[in-house]
Amino acid sequence: MLYGVVLAGGTGTRLWPLSRAGHPKFLHPLTGTEASLLQATVDRLDTLTSPDRVFVVTGVAHAAAVSRQLTAMPDENVLVEPSPRDSCAAIALAAAVIARRDPEAIMGSFASDHLITDKEEFARVIRRAMAGAKAGLLMTLGITPTRPETGYGYLQCGGAVGDGPALKVEEFKEKPSYEVAEGYVKSGNYLWNAGMFVWRADVFLAELARQQPQLAAGVRRIAAAWGTAEQEEVLGEVWPTLPRISVDYAVMEGAAGAGRVGTVPGDFGWNDVGDFHTLGEVLTADPAGNVVVGHDTGAERPTVLLREAENLVVVPGSGRLVAAMGVRDLVIVDTTDAVLICPRDRAQEVKSLVDQLKELG
Ligand code: GDD
Ligand code: MG
Repeated sequence: MLYGVVLAGGTGTRLWPLSRAGHPKFLHPLTGTEASLLQATVDRLDTLTSPDRVFVVTGVAHAAAVSRQLTAMPDENVLVEPSPRDSCAAIALAAAVIARRDPEAIMGSFASDHLITDKEEFARVIRRAMAGAKAGLLMTLGITPTRPETGYGYLQCGGAVGDGPALKVEEFKEKPSYEVAEGYVKSGNYLWNAGMFVWRADVFLAELARQQPQLAAGVRRIAAAWGTAEQEEVLGEVWPTLPRISVDYAVMEGAAGAGRVGTVPGDFGWNDVGDFHTLGEVLTADPAGNVVVGHDTGAERPTVLLREAENLVVVPGSGRLVAAMGVRDLVIVDTTDAVLICPRDRAQEVKSLVDQLKELG
């Protein structure tokens, strides 16, 4: 049985003002269902594992909200980071805690803020990845690319692992330039890395020790103190010294170079909901291409009124009516204390708006 590790870090700044430092996107029910992205991520694991084997790694500011949302999971399975040190430290902490409990454990690491529409196919793909993990590979899930996205990792596919369908990964390239990404997509031999990983916890820790000895040693110290009276002291001392780097750069690129990475190509309706445009693409649009995001709370009055509007992504939420007329290709987000309006094709740049806001203080 799988150990599930869910990474609930990051604030999702490209989804501002919906996603905030105090209420990041994984706590939101973005898709018009009752469940938040985090709850949906954990629910998706229900046929693969049991609640006592699911761990969530999150920041100190969100630990209480995470526990509140995940009632079936024991509170001690929320691994709380004193500060964000990026995904490698978060995954390594979980791997070390899990390997202490079960030296043979196979763990899957999952982002808490992705949308997956085909849960059954997802579970099948994870089972295939578990087979590759048992054979000692660091397994990724591969998605057929549809555009030269520069925010993703790319997997160069090699031959089949055993009888397949898993493939060896010849090269793992995180966030290439646009030109390089274009070449990859054209070649037809690359997949996107979905940002979910399956491996034996001990195999990952050995690879971490090889490539990131300082991080590995720090995490080993923390794991040795985990659950004892010294836990907080050791965590407080060691955590801030850990290199701040993502697992893709820290481990996966080098592991692929050493022939230790595999991938299972999967088509399970994956979307990483990075910005309002992508969010709009995965939700159902009306005949004019307009998408209204969010759960209808049963308000008596309509929350959105559109006339001669096309291809809008509208996120009502303040309780006010949002009306738009004679406009197209826009994102409109209304919250109690901030309103965002921008062209749909510039939704990526919302991050730089947030940076500008931070500078203003
Ligand atoms: N707990 C914790 N602490 N989680 C973190 C931290 C941290 O400090 N930093 C990042 N994470 C979590 C995020 O919440 C997310 O679930 C996951 O780690 C990946 O981090 P992102 O910052 O979202 O990475 P990315 O989107 O730029 O790239 C990754 O995902 C892409 C697919 O969406 C990479 O794995 C790419 O290769 C991949 O294509
Ligand atoms: Mg991401």
